[in-house]
Amino acid sequence: MYLVGADFLLLCDDSFSIIEKGGIYFDDNEIIAVDKYEKLESLRIREKKYYENCVITPSFANLHTHLEFSKNNGKLHYGNFGKWLDSVIVNRDSLMDSTLEEAMQREITKMLKSGISCIGAISSYGYDVEVLANSPLRVLFFNEVIGSKEEAVPFLEQSLNARIKECAQYQSKRFFPAIAIHSPYSVHETLLNKALEIAKVEELPLSVHFLESKEEREWLDNGSGYFKDFFKRFFNSDMTPFFSIESFLDKLEGLNPYFVHTLFANDNELERIKKLNGKIISCPRSNRLLNNALLPLSKMYNNGFDVIFATDGLSSNDSLSLLDELKMALYAYSEYDVEYLAQKLLLGVTNYAFKDNKIGLKAGILKQGYVPDFAVFKLECKEQIALNLILNSKEALALYIGGIKVEHE
Ligand code: BEZ
Ligand code: FE2
Repeated sequence: MYLVGADFLLLCDDSFSIIEKGGIYFDDNEIIAVDKYEKLESLRIREKKYYENCVITPSFANLHTHLEFSKNNGKLHYGNFGKWLDSVIVNRDSLMDSTLEEAMQREITKMLKSGISCIGAISSYGYDVEVLANSPLRVLFFNEVIGSKEEAVPFLEQSLNARIKECAQYQSKRFFPAIAIHSPYSVHETLLNKALEIAKVEELPLSVHFLESKEEREWLDNGSGYFKDFFKRFFNSDMTPFFSIESFLDKLEGLNPYFVHTLFANDNELERIKKLNGKIISCPRSNRLLNNALLPLSKMYNNGFDVIFATDGLSSNDSLSLLDELKMALYAYSEYDVEYLAQKLLLGVTNYAFKDNKIGLKAGILKQGYVPDFAVFKLECKEQIALNLILNSKEALALYIGGIKVEHE
């Protein structure tokens, strides 16, 4: 048994409880008790450590990122979704050359240093499977399904099966196979049906980019605009949408998906997402760069969504640090009290990220029975702790995953 303590423990439970001079008593599998450090010191302990002038939080979950785009630093066009997507298609191959592995490794190390212990990796090609399976991170490995061309569907189905099979070899307490649907505009109906069937039968977590842009909305509503031209230019096809927004959502019944972005969803659609027991993941910096928009947070909270925050990939961001992400959100959503918002943002990368998850991982709260995954930050403040953590921390002083201190570098 181990005991780790600090001046403040942010439990990240629903009421954002804080324990002063608190301790976490744990073994490799789970937290056994959380209480005042002094009280826990009387228990049977193999090793103990108290971090002076520090704060401990559950370590962070970055539930939506694209590690395979780790090499981007300036090749893609920002400020207009259509121009960005065009630039992704044009530059994709050059972003995935032989130095990609090194770049992915570098970004994993940086994430660990910034207090992230769990990621949702959207894998478009499977290039990231090994590097992630061999990392200390917990990983929801989202095999991404994309493809609009009818002729390609049999090949894409085969490839999906093969990727799921490969991924299953790595399944462990830290590595969880999952499926991502790229979006309602980019997946052929037959392929979608197949992917959803696998997700249902295997009870896999499911993620989808959903209503990220005005362009997507216009295409799904009217079959017109940027995407009409896009399919003509890149696929030489006079396509019509595979789904209406409603018929796409109907297909997700019973799957409790993660909806990523939902920037342009209306009230009815949000209600439908709620009924599907969907979770909303917001990536504010990506949304600003690609769509000049931010998720209306008050509307989400008022509709009962515990919004999860993530960074998206380096294809639409300048770092994969959640502390950077939350700092931007803290400045951007100026209608809230700063400490209240800071707490909600922290919950969005801890507690909310793991609520009712399909993999049965009890994480994101410092609580008995939960995994001993936590981060220690140097911080000398005595009040507005959530706010000061987001404002003043760049890196964690220490990170524990499964009760073990991660040594990176
Ligand atoms: C496709 O691969 O079919 C596709 C990719 C991006 C956007 C739309 C379709
Ligand atoms: Fe994304």
